Amino acid sequence: MTRVFSGVKPTGHLTLGNYLGAMRQWAAEDQHRSDALFCVVDLHALTVDHDPARVRRLSRQAASLLLAAGLDPELCTVFVQSHVDEHARLSYVLECVATDGEMRRMIQYKEKAARERERGGSVRLSLLTYPVLMAADILAYGTDEVPVGHDQTQHVELARDLAVRFNQRYGHTFVVPKATNPAVAARVMNLQEPASKMGKSDDVGPGIVYVLDEPDVVRKKVMRAVTDSGREVVYDRAARPGLANLLEILAACTGGEPAELAEAYDAYGALKKDVAEAVVEVLRPLRKRHQELCADPGYVEGVLRDGAEKARAMARPTVDAAYRAIGLLPPVADTVVNAAR
Ligand code: TRP
Repeated sequence: MTRVFSGVKPTGHLTLGNYLGAMRQWAAEDQHRSDALFCVVDLHALTVDHDPARVRRLSRQAASLLLAAGLDPELCTVFVQSHVDEHARLSYVLECVATDGEMRRMIQYKEKAARERERGGSVRLSLLTYPVLMAADILAYGTDEVPVGHDQTQHVELARDLAVRFNQRYGHTFVVPKATNPAVAARVMNLQEPASKMGKSDDVGPGIVYVLDEPDVVRKKVMRAVTDSGREVVYDRAARPGLANLLEILAACTGGEPAELAEAYDAYGALKKDVAEAVVEVLRPLRKRHQELCADPGYVEGVLRDGAEKARAMARPTVDAAYRAIGLLPPVADTVVNAAR
């Protein structure tokens, strides 16, 4: 069966973009058609300036939101990255296969590092090596497919390169993964800046709808979305990005095609109202389920404990094989030592 792996980074509250572009598809499709793992990648949250208590809180929240979004621990594996040592173990080995030039070429690193330096801050070494840890996340599980947004494609390609290189040098060890981009509504854009994606890492913003926003907050944000100058409602991504984003969100929530949906409207106001209601409805069951899970923290903890155990058992043999292939001396098992005595 196809092995699927994806991760959510607990650096901010999850957004409508995370839900429509990723989590919804994981729940509706991926967990049914494949052997899937979904991971709260908390080690990745330490690559930038962070507050320990906040990372802890967001990690717990991300895990319950994955479950609230419909991931079923009977069908897939939901766990927290730092609960499974194999990620860090494999990351080091892959650092010995990657080059520093390769790391410095990563677009996301270049952008984030530049921003950090502009603010006079320093860049953590782990920000540079982040893509190697991500490659370890993926390769440890023999992953075939990695459903991610377009901004992560370069990182998945690096994982491919490292897998191929390792296999050539040290013998076949890793499955070579590929990125798959979600089909519909892969890119929900910021309601205030339709040129940039509705990412959770953007601090706060009236242009970002969080999955846990109260219905009235959702309505306010949608009603205040920037639209473009011009009056008729048409779907034109290049010329009318703000409007196109609203139509795409509506299409993602209700089904249908953005261009066809546009025909039903002759004013922005009516469209925005419908978009707002559609978003509120899509998020309603998720919010409700999240509340129930918050009232039952023992359940979520149990899921994460079982998930980590399952994940460990899956990753262990591959990571051990990589250790042996690259030349590390296998530890002698206790039973053998005892037998020799
Ligand atoms: N880098 C991804 C992001 O920022 C998160 C991530 C970490 C990930 N490890 C992963 C995604 C492995 C897919 C597979 O969104």
